[in-house]
Amino acid sequence: MAEEKKDRIQTAANSGLDRREFFVRMGLGSLGIAAAGTAAFGYQFLSPNVLYEPSPVVNMGRPESYQLDSVTLDVDARIFVVHGNEGFFALNAVCTHLGCLTAWKPEIDTIACPCHGSKFTREGVKKEGPAPKPLPWLRMWLSEDGELMVDRSNEIPPSQFVRV
Ligand code: FES
Repeated sequence: MAEEKKDRIQTAANSGLDRREFFVRMGLGSLGIAAAGTAAFGYQFLSPNVLYEPSPVVNMGRPESYQLDSVTLDVDARIFVVHGNEGFFALNAVCTHLGCLTAWKPEIDTIACPCHGSKFTREGVKKEGPAPKPLPWLRMWLSEDGELMVDRSNEIPPSQFVRV
């Protein structure tokens, strides 16, 4: 009997892990997990909380690339660049009804919305349809390099042309 007990004690000692060591390792493991979690939340807290949205200012290129008496839609920017006798201006191409992208129809000299049939003049004035407002003019200017710039976030009163 005493021999058997001695064998058990010997086996526990040979396994290299007694009760105290087991709890020490458990405690260290828990501390490690807690430290990793704290580091992750700390990093998230300290990193800037910024939304990376595209700039509202877009470069529409050189004025020479727009023919006189033209209406050009930039689908990505959702802007019409209109080049008339008075100069250049930019219109927001998003319909003021429910936000569909409008299109230029040169055969009827009209900007038309494909969704519910609103129609606008090339100056953005509503001609017909459910759109409650005209297409807004957007601030346009010439950059130092001589390129047309448009600020999509900045609506302006109509009839402010960029003359080149
Ligand atoms: S979204 Fe253009 S008419 Fe309805």
